[in-house]
Amino acid sequence: MGSEGGVLKVETRELREEEMPFWMALQAGMSVAQAEQLSYDPLIFHCWVLGAWLEGNLVGGMEVVRSVRPDYAVGVNAVVAATHQRIGIGSLLYKERGRFLLERGISKVVTAVSIWNTGSLIFSLNKNMARGVKYLRDCYFEGEDKLWMEKDLREATSVFDEAGVGESYRGGSQENFVPVTPKELFLNSRPRRLLESLVNTDGFHVIGLVRPRYSGCDNNLLVLKPRREGGDNE
Ligand SMILES: CC(C)(COP(=O)(O)OP(=O)(O)OC[C@H]1O[C@@H](n2cnc3c(N)ncnc32)[C@H](O)[C@@H]1OP(=O)(O)O)[C@@H](O)C(=O)NCCC(=O)NCCS
Repeated sequence: MGSEGGVLKVETRELREEEMPFWMALQAGMSVAQAEQLSYDPLIFHCWVLGAWLEGNLVGGMEVVRSVRPDYAVGVNAVVAATHQRIGIGSLLYKERGRFLLERGISKVVTAVSIWNTGSLIFSLNKNMARGVKYLRDCYFEGEDKLWMEKDLREATSVFDEAGVGESYRGGSQENFVPVTPKELFLNSRPRRLLESLVNTDGFHVIGLVRPRYSGCDNNLLVLKPRREGGDNE
């Protein structure tokens, strides 16, 4: 663990019960000493928490919960410290989570991600090759739409895995693009209905997110592709 010759050495592993204050502190943006004074929701002691350590500090974590379906787990929460984002720690955790779950006979992870959480969608779809398989309109609250993401852990975990090259989003002739405008505009828009029916009824998966930066367009575009016959996430 630590930095050797300018190379960051990150250790990813399951957290022990006594390390939970580190995880609470990271999520809540407080010190470990402050977190040690608090009580925690029992959920935290009944799910797996995988953490990423750098030089003795917990810099990232992911919670995973068992599902009623024995081959599925649910990814509940993923956080990397703001100071350490976008240097690969989230992807290391994603990979470790895959290894950890496959070892326990679990081959799929599902997660719900807000369709306005651009960073998380790019991270899951573009970088780690999850698929958006269900559109969750008004998820818990009116106007909170989420994408149900699935990751088949037997498939490539990252666009950098050899098996994944070519599978990740590269553009092509078969894709469909649906714009995601800011929330107030989106809720009564045609793209909302279109996205919902393409994913929930017409057999499309969301496979990526692109952000065109041409004049007059500032919207994210979700990239959809027909589900592979007998293939993904079934
Ligand atoms: C999402 C999250 C866990 C990713 O962790 P990370 O360590 O930053 O991820 P990695 O460094 O492995 O991968 C970064 C890639 O993810 C995508 N990404 C992550 N955050 C992004 C952002 N804000 N905007 C655009 N792309 C983003 C990009 O593809 C990025 O690659 P790039 O830097 O080469 O463009 C982290 O950004 C985070 O904690 N976000 C806030 C909490 C959150 O939204 N959690 C998920 C919902 S529970």
